[in-house]
Parts: sequence; structure tokens; C-alpha cells
Amino acid sequence: MCGIVGYVGKEQVAPILLDGLSRLEYRGYDSAGIACMENGTIRVNKAKGRLQVLSDMIDGGNAVASTLGIGHTRWATHGKPSDENSHPHMSQKGKFAIVHNGIIENYSEIKASLIADGVQFASETDSEVICNLLEKFYEGDLLKAVKKTVDVLEGSYALGIICHEYEDRFIAVRHASPLIVGLSDKGNFVASDIPAILSYTRKIYHLGEGEIVELTGDKVRVFNSDLEPVIKQAEEITWDVKSAEKDGYDYFMEKEIMEQPRALHDTISPRIDDHGEIVLDGVHLTREDIEGYRRIYITACGSAYHVGMVGKYIIEKMTRIPVEVDLASEFRYRDPIVDDKTLMIIISQSGETADTLAALREGKKRGARILSIVNVVGSSIANESDDVLYTWAGPEIAVATTKAYSTQLSMMYLIALYMADKLELMAKEEIRTLLASLIQVPELVEQVIETTRPQIMELAKQYHGVEHAYYLGRNVDYAVAMEASLKLKEVSYVHSEAYAAGELKHGTISLIEEGTLVVALAGCHRVIEKTVSNIQEVKARGAKVIVVTTEDNTGVEKVSDHVIYLPKVKELFLPSVEVVPMQMLGFYLAKERGCDVDKPRNLAKSVTVE
Ligand code: AGP
Repeated sequence: MCGIVGYVGKEQVAPILLDGLSRLEYRGYDSAGIACMENGTIRVNKAKGRLQVLSDMIDGGNAVASTLGIGHTRWATHGKPSDENSHPHMSQKGKFAIVHNGIIENYSEIKASLIADGVQFASETDSEVICNLLEKFYEGDLLKAVKKTVDVLEGSYALGIICHEYEDRFIAVRHASPLIVGLSDKGNFVASDIPAILSYTRKIYHLGEGEIVELTGDKVRVFNSDLEPVIKQAEEITWDVKSAEKDGYDYFMEKEIMEQPRALHDTISPRIDDHGEIVLDGVHLTREDIEGYRRIYITACGSAYHVGMVGKYIIEKMTRIPVEVDLASEFRYRDPIVDDKTLMIIISQSGETADTLAALREGKKRGARILSIVNVVGSSIANESDDVLYTWAGPEIAVATTKAYSTQLSMMYLIALYMADKLELMAKEEIRTLLASLIQVPELVEQVIETTRPQIMELAKQYHGVEHAYYLGRNVDYAVAMEASLKLKEVSYVHSEAYAAGELKHGTISLIEEGTLVVALAGCHRVIEKTVSNIQEVKARGAKVIVVTTEDNTGVEKVSDHVIYLPKVKELFLPSVEVVPMQMLGFYLAKERGCDVDKPRNLAKSVTVE
């Protein structure tokens, strides 16, 4: 996600924009820019890098003589961080400038159509089509041009728009990406988030879906998508700035858990076209390539490695190609069997993890094809890969990953289905059916959050004093158990281990005693009876057992102390819904223990050392 600020009023606008953007840097920070109306023309200043680079360019804003402008901090999705890809974007004839937060899912066809009309583009971004559509549709009525433009767009967008013919007003639009309006007697504002304008006004309202707002220094007019006037009720914000950055949550981790439905939607939906075909932008694997791979390595660290554990089950099941999952720190030093018949799937949120980058280089040196799944556009791992699939989770601030893990998981499903389709191992109809279920995953995650959050908060209160916790599962449940265990230990400092449920009896069960907490993941129906037996083994030794299973599996109640029910979901996508209560258990238990959940001791968000 990116950060947007806009202002029109009595004050000099550039310092206000820079100040507002500085309070949104947690939303995106690989480039920044502002566009202001100055003596009847639009003046754009923008630069790659942190906001300070931009501020230095315009002397802290004092070099811009204007009282109307829009600003943006970028979290790159389409196009690497660069001066040209930074926002604001200017239309070809310089009549419009825009800032955009979100993803235009149909930008390719719009861009092709505009190019056919003779428009030349200056950037690789999806956003640049918006200002050129405005220029195409503008015939003197600004609001009508905006309506015609947004009627063409598909995807998510919060927009700030200035037109060279208006020195006293600008437009903003909200569709799926948040946008608020701030009101004051010195002028009026728009912003992606409250922190950007909280020091100027506490009187705000949230724009609704599809709403268009026209702002002047002393008036704000809101319209619906049919340009009919809408009456808005302002509210008084009582938060302080710090808590406002977290959208009212106490921690970024909690906020990012709750953002997962949106992150999943933004990552999945652009990859499935209107015909139910998979469109993996940035991946150029042909049928011949895939048929030629004798082995696939999935290599990563930490939670990204746990995604790979799930990926192994899924990709092997769908493609029958052997998949090995390797810890990146081990891969490099074990003289791995790699050649040009090897595909390496590298997973990394930051794209900068030293162990993972080293494994990538080792595999590349030995001839492997490198496909990476990364959350940061233009990161080292992305730049050194042959194919890159970006997760569009937006910046992940909390050290403990949640939304990045979930979006990486969704990429595992898509890669497996993509390869199965290329190899014609599954009927088109079956693939379409699975994709139709995959598109439902964001809503299912939303449902799981809502239905299990109160129960998880209670369990966290009841068990926050435990010293040890064991997570059990079989098959993909085991892979999710590994992530569940890490989520708990890294933020709550409770010792925790994940075990293949069938393996416990081969040693570790000696640690189970009266009151030991065991969390059993039992979503995988194929092995449910075996998992229940393993649960009975630990119950017989005094364990307190929390079972996670699907709502049709009430039989587990007789062998458990607590049951967390999940909605029924195609087993292929079970990990995506099963992990969410586990993330919340880790978070709320750590919160109960008074831990610094966003910044756990000894950890860093990106481990750029070996
Ligand atoms: C997970 O919550 C941790 N933050 C850590 O295990 C992380 O997954 C690991 O360091 C890999 O980071 P990356 O995805 O940025 O490469």
C-alpha cells in the first residue's frame, strides 16, 4: 500500500504535504513525490528513495509557492523503485497529475489502448494510465472526466487528482483503498490514513466505496459514483498520532493479521483473468521448461521456509515433480544436487535475507532456474531471479510475519495450479473450479478472523502463563504447525516446538506431563483418525489440548479441552484458513504476557547477515 496526502487552503501546501507524508512512511517508502498548482501550471517534484531526498530537493517545501497539492509515498507494486515510477504521475500533455494507492488490475489493456491512441508513457506503473485517461476524457467538466475514468478502472484505487485548469480545487476518489477527508478553517485535506493530517485537524470523515470528493479551501462536496451529492457526517478523532498509525490497533502485528483478507485479494485476484485462466505476470515458465525439471527446490528461512513446507505437499500432489524444501542457511553448504534441470523457488518477504540470497546465488551458479516470491519490488532477491512473483501484501512492519506468509501461501497454490495446467495434468474445468475456490479464500479468512478471534483471546488469557507448547499435525497440518509454533515463540518467548503428530511417540512425548499445552492441527481429513489417536496419546499423559479443525469434524470434542472450528474449505486451501487462528494465538498470548509484540527481543525484520 502507499500513502496519499492532499491539501487546498490558505497555507503553503508543500511543507504540509511533506509533513503528512512523513507520518505515512510506514505505508510505503521506496520513493515519494508531490504535485502542486503553481502560477497556473502543475509542478511535480518526485524522487526514488526516502522522503528526505524529496524534502531536500524542494528545501523542505519552501521552494514551492503553492496552496494546492497532492503527495505520495510509494510501496512499489508495478515497476521497480525509480524516479520515473514515483508518483505523482503527469498525463502526456501535462493537464493532469495523479497519485494512486492500490492496484489497477486491467491496466495492461488500458495502456495498450492509450498507446494505440498515440499516448507515450514515462513509467512502468499501472497508475500512469489514470492521468492519461483523465486527459482523454476531459472536455471541460472535471467531475465528468473523473467519472468516465473510474468507470473504466478495475481493481483498487484511492486517487488524488489535480487539473491544470483549476488553481482552487482538486479531486479525490475512493475505491477499495481507504481515503479520508480532513476539514479545517485553514483548508481541507485528503489522506490515506489519519496520522497524516492529525496535527492539522481532528475533524474527519471516511470516504465510502466509489465516492468522489471535490475540495476547495473552504468547501468540500462529496458525490457517489453517479455524481449524485452525498451528505457526510464528520467525526472527531480522539487518537494520538502513534496509535493512529496502527489504525487504532495496539500493534502492527494485530493490524497486519486483520489486513490479510485485503492483502490476499490484492495478491490473488490480478492473477486470475475473466476467463478463469491463471496469469502469472513475471513468470515465463513454458510447458517444455516444466517438463524438463527433474527436481524443484523450495529454499527460504523462517516463516518463508514454512510456506515452502506447505508448497511441497501441494506442488508434488499436482505436478508429481519431486520437491525438496531446504533451509537456505543449510542449502548452500551441503553441495546440493543442482543443474539446469532444477527449478529453485525462493521465498522471501524482504527480498534481502542474506541466507536466502546466498542460496539463490549458489543455485544459479550451478545452473538452476530461479523463480522468487517476494514482497518488496526491486529487492536483491527479485533483481537476481529469472522469474519474480510479487506478493502485494503492502509493507509489513511487525517483525513476526503474518500477511506476507499468507500471500506467499496463495502463490504456492497458484504456481502448483499453473504448472499442472501447463502439463495438462488436470482438466481445465477442475482447475477453474479450484480457482473459483481460491478467489473465496480472502472472504474465508475474514470469516475465520471474526468467528475465532474472541475464543482465541480467551485462550490467550487462560494459557498465557505456560512455559512450553507443542504443536502437532500430519501432512499439511504439520507444515502449518511449524508456522504456528514459530508465531508463538518469537513474540511471546514461550518455548514451543512443532512435531509431526506421528513422530511425537518416538521421543518427545517424554516431555508431555500434567498441564502441558498441546495444540493439534486436525484439518486434514485424510489423516484425521491418526491425528485423533495422537491427541489421545498426549491427553492420556495430562496434556491440555486445543484442537483446530473444520466445522464438520465435531468428533474431536471428546478428546480435546478446546476446539477451534474453521469453515469448511477445499483441503488444498486449508493452510490459508488454519494459520490465522494460530497467528492470533501467538499475538494475543504475547500481548497477555506484556511482550513488545512488534519488536521481539533479539529479532530483526530483515536478517541481512549470515
Ligand atoms: C517470521 O515471523 C520471522 N520474521 C522470520 O522467520 C522471517 O520469516 C525470516 O527471517 C525470513 O525473512 P524473509 O521472508 O524476509 O526472507
